[in-house]
Amino acid sequence: MKFAFIIHPTSLADVERYEPGAAGKGRPLIEKIMEWMPAYAAVHVTGVRTPDGRETEGWFVAANYMPEQMLALPRETVYAKILKAIEIGAELGAGIAGLGALTGAVGDAGVTLAARSPIAVTTGNSLTIAAGVKSLLRGAHEMEIDLAGATAVVIGATGSIGSACVELIAPHVAHVVLVARNMTRLRRLHETLAKRLACATSITTDVRAAVRRGDLVLTATTSAQEVIEPADLRVGAVVCELSLPHDVGRRVALERPDVLVTEGGNLRVPGMPRFERVREPGLPFDFGLPPGTALACMSETMVLALENRPEPFTLGRGIDLERVREIDELATRAGFELAGMRAFDKAIGPEQIAQIKAAAGLRRATAV
Ligand SMILES: NC(=O)c1ccc[n+]([C@@H]2O[C@H](COP(=O)([O-])OP(=O)(O)OC[C@H]3O[C@@H](n4cnc5c(N)ncnc54)[C@H](OP(=O)(O)O)[C@@H]3O)[C@@H](O)[C@H]2O)c1
Repeated sequence: MKFAFIIHPTSLADVERYEPGAAGKGRPLIEKIMEWMPAYAAVHVTGVRTPDGRETEGWFVAANYMPEQMLALPRETVYAKILKAIEIGAELGAGIAGLGALTGAVGDAGVTLAARSPIAVTTGNSLTIAAGVKSLLRGAHEMEIDLAGATAVVIGATGSIGSACVELIAPHVAHVVLVARNMTRLRRLHETLAKRLACATSITTDVRAAVRRGDLVLTATTSAQEVIEPADLRVGAVVCELSLPHDVGRRVALERPDVLVTEGGNLRVPGMPRFERVREPGLPFDFGLPPGTALACMSETMVLALENRPEPFTLGRGIDLERVREIDELATRAGFELAGMRAFDKAIGPEQIAQIKAAAGLRRATAV
């Protein structure tokens, strides 16, 4: 089965990477152009092939709005462009459509879009959750954090991705701090979760205070601005970033060499995947990841296509953890695996990890 995946730029850098002519045009003009711009097929994806010989191909279809527009424009306006993008995917032969970045978070997280779509729709959040938690734990392992005594902070804890991450992180740590802006929703979630989670839990709307407590931090918000202040991070902390647009700004890289930041949702795609621009065939589509790598939400869509399962696999908030386990297993069987660690457009290898650990050691020693 073929797939479609709906994309949009999550930063001005994304726009300029695709369209260098946009550089220096200014955000207001770019946003105005996006208001006029209809949905279009931007990328043809081929060469996805599992070890047991199954193949799929698909298209990334652009429903272009900047993150601020996704969140602020009338919901029906945003839905209309995303639906048009899904219809383009369907016309190209796709049996399933995945909702990228904020297209899967606006409104009711895909439920309305799925009801109106001619083909099956998934947000891709189940595989994002599985990959995000694995990345966070891998980072903690690299930084030699003693998980049994650690505090994890989940920012965006009431969200589709965040709430499931809380549940999956809880068995590994001593304490989870749930963070979001809306206290009523936080309290409601906490009432249901606190009873069944093995570790201690607490809630707060104060991101800065929470981050100061976190040995591990996972971010999954829909904020269009950075939410993490470098000065708040604990020495030697691990930050796993799932949010698109990012919650962790470059100031963290500059000011906190003792903290390991890693993008949590990147997977290596099996086969010889090629992401080619539709407008300029042969030219690769650069979405800021190394060749052969895709976001976990894209990967969920590809896995369902490979499995020939045109199902609304992940929709809405309140994710079924069984589905997270199932898609994780299917993805592993299809040859998808966690990509190497990466942040701020750079790979993080053993040398960088050693440098981060040395910087953390130095800071601890100086503090003493
Ligand atoms: N890497 C990947 O493969 C991948 C895949 C899918 C999605 N994503 C990204 O993951 C993020 C979360 O998606 P989702 O579907 O879980 O969204 P969601 O269900 O709308 O949840 C968003 C969460 O963020 C909180 N939030 C929003 N602004 C905040 C702020 N300024 N400070 C603190 N908390 C804030 C919200 O609660 P309050 O409103 O109460 O604050 C809510 O808890 C999005 O950025 C999306 O683009 C990444």
